Amino acid sequence: MGKRKWLIMVMVSNLLLAFFSFACQKNDSAQSDPALLLGFSQIGSESAWRAGNTKDIEEQAELFGVSLMFENANQKQENQIAAIRRFIAYKVDVIAFSPIVEEGWENVLTEAKNAGIPVILVDRDICSKDKELTACLIGADFYEEGVMAGEYLIRKADTLGLEQVNIVEITGTDNSTPMEQRQAGFADTIASDERMNILESIDGDFIKSRGAECMRTLLEKYGDDIDVVYSHNDEMTLGALPEIEEAGFVPGKDIIIISIDGGQDAIDVLKDGKINCVVECTPKLGRKVMETAIKLKNGEEVDDVIHPEEQIFSDEQDLSTIGPRGY
Ligand code: AHR
Repeated sequence: MGKRKWLIMVMVSNLLLAFFSFACQKNDSAQSDPALLLGFSQIGSESAWRAGNTKDIEEQAELFGVSLMFENANQKQENQIAAIRRFIAYKVDVIAFSPIVEEGWENVLTEAKNAGIPVILVDRDICSKDKELTACLIGADFYEEGVMAGEYLIRKADTLGLEQVNIVEITGTDNSTPMEQRQAGFADTIASDERMNILESIDGDFIKSRGAECMRTLLEKYGDDIDVVYSHNDEMTLGALPEIEEAGFVPGKDIIIISIDGGQDAIDVLKDGKINCVVECTPKLGRKVMETAIKLKNGEEVDDVIHPEEQIFSDEQDLSTIGPRGY
């Protein structure tokens, strides 16, 4: 065989090998066949967490061969309702959405139910008497996140030998599941510890600039009485930190800082010692969403609630082992 012919044969067989190994890789995850049409209504772009969640949903849809109709509601419930109506009109196979707040979904979800389209709640829950309106919830156990934050604070107070612990809480969007559950889990956990005293809870809407505003207000009101900031997400924490420094306090030393999410920026600040504890809330829900959507389309049973596993990062551990976070 001539050298040229031999070279062409090697190139063709390499191409075939690459094609087959790519095909096998893709087939590791259940593919939707024929392509499933999934309408997904995202809350908005309020945080790095949300951006990570959107990216993950898009990547996993592609990996599973799911056609995604993606709509960003820009932090408005009415936009989410309008998006769900468009999905129904378009006759998508499955609807998934992250409800910005818990109340106010009955009408539009009844329309989806009447159209025979199953609905997956992603990340956040709704409050409804009719449990048949949605097929399932795929999202974090926010109550447990609040518990982990509270338990950390009790351990920290023990280690530092504190006799009185004054806490300010910067909460997420009012009437949202993470806000309500993170508040409840934390409050229930510290309730029996007489040292703990919540000075004020203030709504920071999960947004960085609001976190800064809230912190300014709290510092003006309580000054050096503040021992702890418990913030419901990294974004608000990162907004609050410069305000604390500007007021002459050292975050992580003069004031204990507890955050939730575990995005890269907050983990870097944790490693610098300006945050003491970050409870993880993973945005990587896409794989479960696609698997569940495929099952629903095939008429299979799905679990009512699917919580991802989550952990806690804090100054109690060796932080050098924390790998890249990916959001
Ligand atoms: O619902 C999850 C929360 O929403 C995340 O903690 C926060 O960062 C996001 O905006």
